[in-house]
Amino acid sequence: MILIKTNAEVELIRESALLVSSTLAELATLLKPGITTAMLDKHAEEYILDNKAVPSFKNYHGYPFATCISVNDAVVHGFPNNNELKEGDLVSIDVGVYKNGYHGDSAYTFGLAPVLEMHQLLMSVTKASLYLGLEKAIAGNRVGDISFAIQDFTERKHHFGVVRELVGHGLGKQLHEDPQVPNYGKKGAGPKLRDNMVIAIEPMTNLGTRDVIYDTDGWTVRTKDGKFSAHYEHDVCVKRGRVDILSSFENIELNEKNNTLLFSNY
Ligand code: MF3
Ligand code: CO
Repeated sequence: MILIKTNAEVELIRESALLVSSTLAELATLLKPGITTAMLDKHAEEYILDNKAVPSFKNYHGYPFATCISVNDAVVHGFPNNNELKEGDLVSIDVGVYKNGYHGDSAYTFGLAPVLEMHQLLMSVTKASLYLGLEKAIAGNRVGDISFAIQDFTERKHHFGVVRELVGHGLGKQLHEDPQVPNYGKKGAGPKLRDNMVIAIEPMTNLGTRDVIYDTDGWTVRTKDGKFSAHYEHDVCVKRGRVDILSSFENIELNEKNNTLLFSNY
């Protein structure tokens, strides 16, 4: 069942989504070679708790951390660990917060400079595909219009792999609500998008094969061929004739640009 939110609920989801965004922006100031993903996770958890919220992911189906941090060939759901990050790493950070009864959920892939040109392209194509999908998140369209826009750009235009096993989703009182929002599909197919539906769109793009494998930890999803992957996620409220993105990359991108140890294309 796809829930339609009231305007008041949308504003509460926006508040949670923007707290996720500011958490990611905070992490952007700390990212550098030598820092561990466990340290990033600890900072994120403290920041979230300081802002009167709780991390959505912790204990979600037994997930043991506040954040998912997926490095290089890890696609999503990476466990924060004590390995030091190094130059050339792609670090995908996924954060969820629960505040005032509603979840926010957003992800961003950072590159530790210098980043190989093919990885820079992987990052820009993945982020651009997210915005192409978001453009279709307007009332009257269907979920498949979002899915097609992402897949067409990523696979047909750029020949990167669109991950099939994991999808975007509705968002609200629950972290994962209906509908599922795949990053591949057909124009005009799937559920109709209606005013005040809230969804998370999250393309996961692989440099090589779209196929993935599960790590022995039971959570971490990795590319089958070991090539790198990128992941960006925004929350959006469906409206008539316009796109209302609830999360924001603005401060993340600003901090990314100001951190000379990070790759930035701004
Ligand atoms: N953003 C992720 C998603 O929507 C959330 C991670 S799931 C968790 O699937 F289990 F790690 F919490
Ligand atoms: Co999500």
